[in-house]
Amino acid sequence: MHIGILTGGGDCPGLNAVIRAVTLALVRQGAVRVTGIERGFHGLLKGCSRTLTPQGVADILAVGGTILGSHNSCDPFGFEGRDRSDEALAYARELGLDGLVVIGGDGTMGIAHRLALRGLPVVGVPKTIDNDLPGTDRTFGFDSAVAIVSEALDRIATTARSHQRVMIVETMGRYAGWIALEGGLAGGADVILLPELPFSVDAVAAHARQREAAGLHTVICIAEGARAAGEGLTVRERIAGSPDPLRLGGVSAWLQQRLQPLVTSEVRSTLLGHVQRGGTPTAYDRVLATRFGWHAAALVLQGCFGRMVALQGDTIVSHAIETVAGRSRPVPADDTLLHVARGTGVMLGQ
Ligand code: F6P
Repeated sequence: MHIGILTGGGDCPGLNAVIRAVTLALVRQGAVRVTGIERGFHGLLKGCSRTLTPQGVADILAVGGTILGSHNSCDPFGFEGRDRSDEALAYARELGLDGLVVIGGDGTMGIAHRLALRGLPVVGVPKTIDNDLPGTDRTFGFDSAVAIVSEALDRIATTARSHQRVMIVETMGRYAGWIALEGGLAGGADVILLPELPFSVDAVAAHARQREAAGLHTVICIAEGARAAGEGLTVRERIAGSPDPLRLGGVSAWLQQRLQPLVTSEVRSTLLGHVQRGGTPTAYDRVLATRFGWHAAALVLQGCFGRMVALQGDTIVSHAIETVAGRSRPVPADDTLLHVARGTGVMLGQ
């Protein structure tokens, strides 16, 4: 048996842990060869791949990013202006692949599903720091991103306190507020602003003024997809060819400008950006990624293709890829963490 593996979309901590687990679990079976496709679906189009061996993946568990490389805008069904899926499938046939393990987010799962419909058996592994894939309680990479946000907020809080400032910290997360919500709670933010709950600038300013009156600084944790009621998303750039071409960013600077005239303290903003995606995975993410990889390999060995592994409670399950492809999972209005935040005095923007 010959299995390919690729990492699609933005990178995140834990990708190498999955590559390692899949390779070790399959090659240990003796009769399975594993080939890594380089730079996601781009490698299928350009014919770039390399053999993966237990020795080759021995030391990558704790390494951030992906040893295979990735690509954030390569969709074989629409690359450089045309459908190139025939070329991708032809390369898979040339390699003699019996199946492909695809590690990625909603866009990558969408492409994997379309390739599966064209005859390439796939197994999906959910990846994204955003934690916004449906069907799984957690994606690996999220815990690592939350840890970085939490540490950043700890650091911001000491400088905010020293100067009695209003400090705004912007997280990633696209259209979902999971990173800002969990990172904000972990870092003790006074205000958390999420895409799912449009905020009022006046209400946030009133909250900061109340804290000023009590001699307190204010730390605001805002998700890049958050917006004031009646306002649009803050778009940083558009990436042609990407399954989701919008790149968000800059809402913290936007809020800084609007808040400054409404409060006495100085207002400053910090955009954390890609620092949230880099570096070594947390222990939790290493274990989750390894579990996902081992279960993906088990599905391959059972011939159970067209599935994405997922975490439900503490159990690894799998779902048909088409039920998750191209869909996202925002923070629900009744999420327990929202109750916890409100109940412990965190202002959510209204
Ligand atoms: O989906 C992961 C993510 O890091 C988002 O949180 C962020 O909006 C986006 O990718 C950034 O993408 P890029 O690396 O292309 O700027």
